[in-house]
Amino acid sequence: MSKQLIITSALPYANGPLHFGHLLEHIQTDIWVRTNRLLKEKCIYLCASDAHGTPIMMKAESENIKPEDLVKQFTKDHEKTLKGFHINHDNYYTTHSNENKKYSELIFLRSQKNNFIQNETIEQFYDESKGLFLADRYVQGTCPSCGAKHQYGDNCEECGAKYEATDLIDPISIFSGETPSIKESEHLFFDLSKQEKKLLKWIDKTDLQDGVKNKLKEWFEEGLKPWDISRDEPYFGFSIPGFPKKYFYVWLDAPIGYIAILDNFLSENSSSISAEELWNESEIYHFIGKDIMNFHTLFWPALLDASDFKKPSNVFVHGFMTLNGKKMSKSKGNFLLIDDYLNLLNPDYMRYFLATKLSNGIDDLDLDLLDFQKKVNTDLVGKFVNIASRSQGFLKEFNNILSNDLDEDLIDEFSNKKNEIFNHYLDRNYSKALKEIMTLADRANQYIDSNKPWILNKESNNKEKVRKIASTAINLFKILNLYLEPVIPETSEKIKKYLKCKDSVDNVSFYLKNHEIDSFNPLILRIEEVEIEKLIEISKNG
Ligand code: MSP
Ligand code: ZN
Repeated sequence: MSKQLIITSALPYANGPLHFGHLLEHIQTDIWVRTNRLLKEKCIYLCASDAHGTPIMMKAESENIKPEDLVKQFTKDHEKTLKGFHINHDNYYTTHSNENKKYSELIFLRSQKNNFIQNETIEQFYDESKGLFLADRYVQGTCPSCGAKHQYGDNCEECGAKYEATDLIDPISIFSGETPSIKESEHLFFDLSKQEKKLLKWIDKTDLQDGVKNKLKEWFEEGLKPWDISRDEPYFGFSIPGFPKKYFYVWLDAPIGYIAILDNFLSENSSSISAEELWNESEIYHFIGKDIMNFHTLFWPALLDASDFKKPSNVFVHGFMTLNGKKMSKSKGNFLLIDDYLNLLNPDYMRYFLATKLSNGIDDLDLDLLDFQKKVNTDLVGKFVNIASRSQGFLKEFNNILSNDLDEDLIDEFSNKKNEIFNHYLDRNYSKALKEIMTLADRANQYIDSNKPWILNKESNNKEKVRKIASTAINLFKILNLYLEPVIPETSEKIKKYLKCKDSVDNVSFYLKNHEIDSFNPLILRIEEVEIEKLIEISKNG
């Protein structure tokens, strides 16, 4: 029996186009989903745009449109962009949905019934001219500890001090630039400390990455504090049942969105099972960046548990992506949008390159565009496709029909590597998987080199020998193509057509014998200087 997996990428905010940081995460997830599917697991891959919160509300206001319309437009754009990279979501939805409202209310009410919700009156900065309570990030001022100017209301980027927003010297609202007043308001809190024991148990039995466990240890040592889950109006979000002027904080309904996307997917597919049932029966895996770890490894499992839902089977955390060795920043002219890339180059190139960088750690990783060009040209064109391009010519006089006689031992050696390579994929150690595959590609090329078919071919009584070498090489190429399929799906498909063989990796040990293939077309091309220069230029213009 195959397992049912629910797999998610974090839900990108619907207030701007997607950049390469988002792409990294979706490629990481997509490769994992494809791997599992090739291994015959049942997967549902879900994502959506994260619609709620103050930044989206303010962005819509500045553009003079309704937040609903802003979100609709970006949701559509994001879905299209990610499709362009062959990211194979089963449903790309939005958190501003009836389904999400339903589950947010349900999970809140159950948590309330189970005594996890408390009220408390807090003091907060208030922007009088905007009529808006100001969360920490919306206030700037002078650090009370070191005197650095222009620091946000939660911590100082200069000296690292943590403080309350109300401790800032000369605070101003980032929206109006005016000095905010201080106002009292009643907020709702989720009592995280009540879940301490259960969280520790979940952490203990879940195979979290070391970097994640270490971070969690720090948080537990600091002590788990009540989590503020409400925001005052005006706020773009769902109002809280029983508290008409209060809204759920965006980080409450965003992860609940995962269940809501599933619900929408199931009803679109006229499924008889409910989202709650399927959620509780499935293995659940979230792919996220390290900046949102606390939400997924503390608040989210605590909330699920408090409302009688199954907790995640694992949360896979990746590091941050830098571009050409520096932090990605639009304003500092070091930035790349996914769409800008798609206008220029084949998505499989970038999927391949990013996969060679991905391991299962949480370290940051760099996208160096010159390195990207070199790697793709060396590996995919120079090693992998080269196996076919240098063999095919010898088969022409046999009408592109492969020999019956093959070096089967060598082919078996290649097909026997399947488990090792696919286990690396399952471990999210894509760089290791691809290293293994390229080592095999080197071996295939060495096989051709050492047999020198171009010399043998000069004598007519060697024809069948030459045919055997070329046919063996094509078989090796076929196997490597199946190994690369999770990473370069479009190219893989193209190669399958060329090989006239639809097999996938579950049939990897099958020989192509006495089998006609297509005539060779350049399956993938080198990345040229002009192309990479254009891309670098774009990345510098932000
Ligand atoms: N909306 C929240 C997620 C809610 S999930 C219930 C959010 N959105 S985001 O658009 O800011 O980020 C979406 C994902 O992209 C996050 O996992 C984040 O870590 C990731 N990345 C954003 N910038 C990134 C890099 N520069 N590098 C790698 N990943 C990055 O957070
Ligand atoms: Zn400071």
